[in-house]
Amino acid sequence: MWHLKQTDPEVFQSIRAELERQVGQLEMIASENLASEAVMEAEGSVFINKYAEGYPGKRYYGGCENMDVVEDLAIERLNMLFGSEYANVQPHSGSQANMAVYFAVLQPGDIILSMDLAHGGHLSHGSSVSFSGRFYKIVHYGVNRETETIDMEQVERLARGHKPKIIVVGASAYPRTLDFAAFKAIADEVGAYMMTDMAHIAGLVAAGIHPSPVPFADFVTSTTHKTLRGPRGGFILSTEKYGRLINSQIFPGIQGGPLMHVIAAKAVAFKEALGAGFKTYQQRIVANASTLAGVLIDNGFRLVSGGTDNHIVLVDLSSKGVTGAEAEDILESAGITVNKNAIPFDTKPPRITSGIRIGTPAVTTRGLGPEEMKEVGGYISELLSRPADSGLVRQVRLKIAALCKRFPIYSGLMESWR
Ligand SMILES: Cc1ncc(COP(=O)(O)O)c(C=O)c1O
Repeated sequence: MWHLKQTDPEVFQSIRAELERQVGQLEMIASENLASEAVMEAEGSVFINKYAEGYPGKRYYGGCENMDVVEDLAIERLNMLFGSEYANVQPHSGSQANMAVYFAVLQPGDIILSMDLAHGGHLSHGSSVSFSGRFYKIVHYGVNRETETIDMEQVERLARGHKPKIIVVGASAYPRTLDFAAFKAIADEVGAYMMTDMAHIAGLVAAGIHPSPVPFADFVTSTTHKTLRGPRGGFILSTEKYGRLINSQIFPGIQGGPLMHVIAAKAVAFKEALGAGFKTYQQRIVANASTLAGVLIDNGFRLVSGGTDNHIVLVDLSSKGVTGAEAEDILESAGITVNKNAIPFDTKPPRITSGIRIGTPAVTTRGLGPEEMKEVGGYISELLSRPADSGLVRQVRLKIAALCKRFPIYSGLMESWR
């Protein structure tokens, strides 16, 4: 990294510090992961220089032959991974993938039925502070107060009552399996489109561990950087029938030139996901979350919905005398990074919250298994049971540092960023 060090020591230093931070702590934010060096090499390549507006074979710029090869590879691999007919790999992000689908089938003022952000949904599913909530009329479903799983009777009732143009299925903080067939039956009954946003669970779906939305949904959107372990970005899957429409909504509808360096990195990540070890890796993510959930329950913590089927554990701290914001800070000081998160029917504001969301994708990537999850679950339990104990924080920080040394990441990068 000689060039960057010479040209811009401040940015060099920040990137090196971030590398050291990622190496030296446990990343347990459920929406994050650790991309491979191969993915990073593709993203940091000369593809960064190229304009390639349009699609393979139909570009608005010359010199796109290498762009075409890579975008075709990304599309082919993605369709193979999910058994889909059509894929668009150009969305810059998950939110833009969702925007393109809305723009494709909705008019301003049309009704979207989607999961409430406060119950685990996502901003781009109709929050009033997002474009989605400003352009469309939003009706939200949520979880049942008793079971804390999605209230399908409510979904049915709201769909019949409001006749939405589209039903959005997907969440950012929902630890249970989504029943795509049940949503599809409701969408068909009321004549709505169905869009599944599988951003969080895409890796699990690719590995066959979570049921696939592809046979049910008209549109499937996703990010590439969560369980799927690729670069930051998005994609859309559908049938050939909607291909031209979606393509035109991404470009020129809402985006200009595709980020070809990111598309190259997506292609690499999709190849990795098609590889032999990916299913086992995703199984370990889920096994790790399940072990962690068990330890927390054994230590007296209440988990939203009582446990997890996926990579997310949502912990209700309301009886522990500690808020989500405080818990996030305590755990971060001890080397465990999580995020505060509202729990369903939370009485605290979003910047405080009564919960934390813990995820296992990144720690699984670095090789931690159920044994280590027991250890980490024990630390989390102790720290959150004795939130004022700064000595404990220091002790656990040392233990986490030792654990990180036992499961190193990015060793080559550490050398080159010295
Ligand atoms: C379900 C879901 N959809 C969409 C997104 C948005 O992705 P991005 O941050 O790439 O816009 C997220 C991000 O957390 C998400 O959880």
